[in-house]
Amino acid sequence: MKTRITEMFEIEHPIIQGGMHYVGFAEMAAAVSSAGGLGIITGLTQGSPENLAKEIGRCREMTNRPFGVNLTFLPAVTPPDYPGYIRAIVDGGVKIVETAGNNPQKWLPALKEAGIKVIHKCTSVRHSLKAQSIGCDAVSVDGFECGGHPGEDDVPNFILLPRAAEELEIPFVASGGMADGRSLVAALSLGADGMNMGTRFIATKEAPVHENVKQALLAASELDTRLVMRPLRNTERVLKNAAVERLLEKEKALGTKIKFEDIVPEVAGVYPRIMKKGEMDAGAWSCGMVAGLIHDIPTVKELIDRTMREAKAIIAQRLAGFMQTAVN
Ligand SMILES: Cc1cc2nc3c(=O)[nH]c(=O)nc-3n(C[C@H](O)[C@H](O)[C@H](O)COP(=O)(O)O)c2cc1C
Repeated sequence: MKTRITEMFEIEHPIIQGGMHYVGFAEMAAAVSSAGGLGIITGLTQGSPENLAKEIGRCREMTNRPFGVNLTFLPAVTPPDYPGYIRAIVDGGVKIVETAGNNPQKWLPALKEAGIKVIHKCTSVRHSLKAQSIGCDAVSVDGFECGGHPGEDDVPNFILLPRAAEELEIPFVASGGMADGRSLVAALSLGADGMNMGTRFIATKEAPVHENVKQALLAASELDTRLVMRPLRNTERVLKNAAVERLLEKEKALGTKIKFEDIVPEVAGVYPRIMKKGEMDAGAWSCGMVAGLIHDIPTVKELIDRTMREAKAIIAQRLAGFMQTAVN
């Protein structure tokens, strides 16, 4: 399958693995890239520019295909050493960066000078247009269903994607709720040039997370996610668990008076305990509604090959079949 996204990133299939905190290590990114998609190392998860440089080196040893690095720009009391992370990316010869969070404008010149293609993740048409106007090469349009931060507009992909297609000139991938060949064909139909998956890639053999995390995704249905931190205007879609129930109780009790400090035990520094140690009630962790479509733990290659097979069959048989019926 050839799209503007496969051409831009020089990949075989129009499937991207979005940056994921404490999941996006070299093992994950290399497995996706080796299977013909675009794997992405999560920059900030590595903890320092030096560690990111090492992770890029490890990934290069595991795959000779292109892979990218995610840089998430979030408001922070002490901001991470972004110039250092960018140096590690440039020196490591990485040619694709997925940016997310705040406007990446300040960091674009350094990336563009190094010939890096930038795909910015946005949750609205206006942010997508902004990304286009500041020179991003592509966008990842993240609908309300997505795992992680869906923004505050709550527009699901059935509306958001065709709206993005109406306005954007640069290519975009559909993100949020994507799981299989059906998702890919739907995304292409709605105007995207590919799809980005987060949650689905966690339930794979290669995902470098504790087995408990994968089993939690298998057990979860589409009804099992919750939105937290809405009163802080930092909404995150997470899998419900004991910590999330506690957090929501605090939100209910404190209302608009709630501050980040009130929920520190439920959200700060919990990822290593969940992803590495498998302590599933340790805190809130991002998870998409797509959990309801996850029924197995294949290898990444099995997942991607199956997705492409399904997509091709839907286009060539199911959809083409409808057309023939109509003609006859
Ligand atoms: C566990 C987890 C951690 C994530 N961490 C990040 C992150 O650090 N930076 C980022 O830009 N997106 C992050 N995301 C969002 C994904 O990159 C992707 O946009 C999202 O998962 C797509 O929705 P889906 O889960 O329905 O596929 C995370 C998602 C998950 C599930």
